[in-house]
Amino acid sequence: MMNRIAGKNIVMGMTGGIACYKAVDLISRLKKAGAEVDVILTEAAQEFITPLTVQTMAKSPCHVDMFKPIDSFNPEHISLAKKADLIVIAPATANVIGKIANGIADDFLTTVLMASRSKILIAPAMNTYMYTNPIFQENLKKLESLNYELIKPETGLLACGDEGVGKLEEPAKIMEYIDYLLTEKDLDGKKVVVTAGPTEESIDPVRFITNKSSGKMGYEIAREAKARGAETILISGKTNLDAPVGVHRVNVQTTVEMLNAIEEYFDSCDLLIKAAAPADYRVQNTSDKKIKKTDENLNITLVENPDIAKHFGEKKGNRFIIGFAAETDSFIENAKKKIEKKNLNFIVLNDVTKEGAGFNADTNIVTIINMLGEEKKFPKMSKREVAKVILDEYLLELKK
Ligand code: PMT
Repeated sequence: MMNRIAGKNIVMGMTGGIACYKAVDLISRLKKAGAEVDVILTEAAQEFITPLTVQTMAKSPCHVDMFKPIDSFNPEHISLAKKADLIVIAPATANVIGKIANGIADDFLTTVLMASRSKILIAPAMNTYMYTNPIFQENLKKLESLNYELIKPETGLLACGDEGVGKLEEPAKIMEYIDYLLTEKDLDGKKVVVTAGPTEESIDPVRFITNKSSGKMGYEIAREAKARGAETILISGKTNLDAPVGVHRVNVQTTVEMLNAIEEYFDSCDLLIKAAAPADYRVQNTSDKKIKKTDENLNITLVENPDIAKHFGEKKGNRFIIGFAAETDSFIENAKKKIEKKNLNFIVLNDVTKEGAGFNADTNIVTIINMLGEEKKFPKMSKREVAKVILDEYLLELKK
């Protein structure tokens, strides 16, 4: 994850539930991301986890005592509320949610919440019957209407043995939400369509042609666009990746399906980013039965697929289209030809022959080339960082 969390003051409230053990991992992730973390444990939380565990992970004293003597006239709950860039309550019980919704401030955590002006993110975790109880649901709705940020719990087998909704969301997903909340929304009001991953072209019911795209580049662009406030649609070939939080994903298989899926969103979008690696050819006569092995060579005729970027480039209007170029030779020359042929605003050239660049890597090494042929070279970066520079470049080009 790219780091907008570094240097931020996160106040974390933990309340009494078994998911406290999972929330310790969240503290660890926040610390690794460079945040300063102050943890408040309620009395009930201390039945599940000790202050010692928490302060060892947070590397700062844990707050448990509302009435401990103070050495200056700076009551701790008020100073914590003031310094927080974000308050996260994980796990949040039905009890604490009920208290917040009804204005009760009777312990350290709830007084901090009452005094806070920062955003508050609540990650509930409880038994499924408690979660679906209409009184609790009313409380949640009230908090939502008061602009509290909520992360819905997951569905699964709960610690009490019941099955259903109520498991604390995974710490990695909570981190993603925190990153979203701490990101400046400079793409607010924009609609961004991103394509990602490979397409597959069937040969017969069990065989297909595809390529080595993992989807990571496109998914990181979608994640970054969403974090920066854009309505984000991700048109994805087959990958092993989870859709980024808040991104609308449309799954497709073939290049023609990818084109048709974009068509649905193109008219209303501001920006189309083509990070996918669509198959350039498809099989002319797909067999509906598995092709049997014989002693002879097998010839398969491939026909050209539509060039999706070119198709939309031709009817671009005042939309912005960013393409990618995956090259193995004559890099700059080939990339420049693609800008012109596909009517792109700029192209992101990745030298897929380099280690740590292109297909399936977590990093990429790119050069951005615009319509005037101006080049900007970037060093090896995480794909999330590459996503950031692409969207920064988009905003810069818009200002020209
Ligand atoms: O998915 P990852 O494992 O993270 O890898 C990322 C990536 C290497 C796939 C990505 O960074 C990338 O370079 N994507 C483009 C791959 C590709 O198809 O390149 P190309 O040079 O063949 O195509 C140029 C552009 O035309 C691309 O924007 C491509 O999406 C688009 N195209 C290609 C073929 C086609 N039929 N229709 C298209 O729109």
